[in-house]
Amino acid sequence: MNARGIILLTGGAGFIGSHVAVEVAAAGWIPVLLDNFCTSERSVVGRISELVGGPVRCIEADIRDAQAMHAAFGSTPVHAVIHLAGLKAVGESVEQPELYHDNNVRGTEVLLTAMDEFGVRRMVFSSSCTVYGTPQRLPIDESHPLSAINPYGQTKLDIERMLDRWVDAGSERHVCSLRYFNPVGAHASALIGESPRGIPNNLMPYVVKVARGELSELGVFGGDWPTPDGTGIRDYIHVVDLARGHVAALERLDSMRHERINLGTGVGASVLEVVHAFERVNGVKVPYAMRPRRAGDAASAFADAGLAERRLGWRARLGLDEMMRDSWAFATRDDG
Ligand code: NAD
Ligand code: WQD
Repeated sequence: MNARGIILLTGGAGFIGSHVAVEVAAAGWIPVLLDNFCTSERSVVGRISELVGGPVRCIEADIRDAQAMHAAFGSTPVHAVIHLAGLKAVGESVEQPELYHDNNVRGTEVLLTAMDEFGVRRMVFSSSCTVYGTPQRLPIDESHPLSAINPYGQTKLDIERMLDRWVDAGSERHVCSLRYFNPVGAHASALIGESPRGIPNNLMPYVVKVARGELSELGVFGGDWPTPDGTGIRDYIHVVDLARGHVAALERLDSMRHERINLGTGVGASVLEVVHAFERVNGVKVPYAMRPRRAGDAASAFADAGLAERRLGWRARLGLDEMMRDSWAFATRDDG
């Protein structure tokens, strides 16, 4: 491998970060992970190492710990940071808004200070389609109005604005905020994937737990939405496609100041389409029952993915069937 420089991945042991680390390495960069493992497992580091064919370094640290961040940047020359570290559970953010502000927003401030101390000028940031609030029009392009409908979403808006100020305050700083739609799936090797603790909030991990018999049935949040089958429509994107989008952003960072770019497929799928695709592809049943709508949900949300194609030369390649297949393969892997 012809190494091109070190990319520091905060939150690199998480669901998305682990896949980004693999793609970053495949593109010839050296990924270094930084994680406090608050929502991930240490064993992921070994799995990433297995996938990239050599040891991957992981710094165990909290992004809010200024001393630890200073030490991290002091220990390694970093070309760019991919900043994925963050808490993401919407319901928890409503119960503990201060925790979300502290972890996500103040954590990013501390990270930026450490980057400044060592002259690190490039960042790819994990933003979210949540910054668009309730969709006013579809597909959602990057000029769609912004609003926060929960404290988690507010942290993403706050951080995007903080990154505007950071870029303006220094010379030659480059940021790309990637606004993810609904990442699902797992690496084709089934070595890394999504394993949330406790009862999942999101559709895909819930479907998987029902299919495994760990939960009795899926509650479908609303069968009376103004959509063709009455269930909510979202833009599910395979996590490996999403990870490749980060590499594309990294390659073009130096031509950006702070750009915001959607990462989605541009195609929506309803809850029932997801359930039926999962059953068909994997040959398992997913019992479900209709439930009332969930507070804060929208009928439909899917991306205009055109800017990513024009600006990054990237578009999603994998479809719903691959997402279902890989999620199930990871959930039923033999851990040996
Ligand atoms: P995840 O929970 O699997 O990964 C987040 C990682 O960050 C974990 O490994 C966790 O231990 C680490 N982390 C959290 N706070 C930290 C801190 N203070 N210091 C150091 N490490 C810390 O979640 P994910 O799905 O991989 O999400 C990654 C990023 O993408 C998050 O910022 C999330 O908000 C964003 N995002 C996720 C989704 C999604 O649906 N998964 C959608 C849009 C945006
Ligand atoms: C998808 C669809 C539900 C669970 C969340 C965050 C958002 C962003 C992406 C991080 C909806 C339905 C779900 C269930 C169901 N994340 N559903 N039964 O709500 O689009 O977005 O992830 O930035 O901020 O809010 O994703 O997976 O929770 O829901 O019927 O048990 O599945 O109503 O239509 P969502 P989700």
